[in-house]
Amino acid sequence: MFESGLLQGKVVLITGGGTGLGRAMGERFLELGAKLAICGRRLEVLEQTAKEMREQADGSEHDVLTVACDVRDASAVEGMLDAVLAHFGRIDVLVNNAAGNFISPTERLSMRAVDAVVGIVLHGTLYTTLELGKRWIASGQGGTVLNIVTSYAWTGSAYVVPSAVAKAGVLAMTRSLAVEWAPYGIRQVAIAPGPFPTEGAWSRLAPTPDLAMHAIDRVPLKRVGDKAELANLASYLISDYAGYINGEVVTIDGGEWLQGAGEFSDLRSVTPEQWDRLREMTQRRS
Ligand code: HXC
Ligand code: NAP
Repeated sequence: MFESGLLQGKVVLITGGGTGLGRAMGERFLELGAKLAICGRRLEVLEQTAKEMREQADGSEHDVLTVACDVRDASAVEGMLDAVLAHFGRIDVLVNNAAGNFISPTERLSMRAVDAVVGIVLHGTLYTTLELGKRWIASGQGGTVLNIVTSYAWTGSAYVVPSAVAKAGVLAMTRSLAVEWAPYGIRQVAIAPGPFPTEGAWSRLAPTPDLAMHAIDRVPLKRVGDKAELANLASYLISDYAGYINGEVVTIDGGEWLQGAGEFSDLRSVTPEQWDRLREMTQRRS
């Protein structure tokens, strides 16, 4: 459904772009004409991904830059942006995708565990956005920031509390800067994915077959997401066609959070016979 040159010439920086959803978005952006920079902590993972991304079917080479960077380190973020700007001369789109997460009862968490997750998701996203925003504003260039959150950014969720707290903060940033930085031509958008099986997420959030099945069972469409579906949504949101979308979060979860949020949603297991009986019990007789 997309024009092949949809993102022609746009320079896109994806944090955590070496794996999972970040990688899937990067691959799609390249197909649509973008130039790409990916960062993460593990340079060898980034290099391997970039090597595979550069090879195009027609024999020409995609422009993919790799920069090792821990987004929890503000000076490393500055250095990473310097490197991307030195290579491409500009950045048009920032995708805040890097994250850390794992399931645990909250009372079992050490303070370092809290810091690890909040540091990556909330501080890392703020450092990268702020540092690039300052440069965009100083140079008079606009841009787009796409933040990857989750639906529990607004519902909260048990057993992933540091992630929920941090993603809620990222959503607040999305909405706040949508207003504050719009006069500079800087647009903010967010995507809230439901379950998309990636190595990083599944190994930490659904490490047993039962938990993996549970993740699917909670989705009204009864399936997990396909990375291509998310990559296409991201492509639209960072494209000029979405130029009037600012401060919005788009959910892509097969209806998961609506089902989870509905107080009576678990009544789906009630049989037709039971419903007959329930009607008898609940209908008012005059
Ligand atoms: C309890 C844990 C733990 C666990 C680590 N810790 N894993 N505590 N349960 N499973 C504790 C450690 O014991 C340590 O505390 C502290 O956390 C820091 O751990 P490190 O390994 O030193 O941290 P670090 O190397 O910085 O790694 C960060 C990480 C790790 C978040 C802990 O998992 C990571 O690198 N993740 C990156 C990728 C990722 O998480 N991807 C999934 C994103 S999916 P002490 O006190 O012992 O020193 C996602 C989906 C959301 O966000 C929605 C799904 C529907
Ligand atoms: P993933 O493959 O584990 O992606 C996380 C990426 O972040 C990795 O490439 C990781 O690389 C990088 N990263 C982690 N800590 C970093 C740090 N301190 N500095 C820089 N980079 C760091 O998991 P994913 O499933 O693709 O998740 C991608 C995004 O989607 C995340 O924002 C996640 O919260 C969100 N999400 C995913 C799902 C899902 O079901 N998969 C659902 C909802 C939301 P290094 O380890 O090399 O640093």
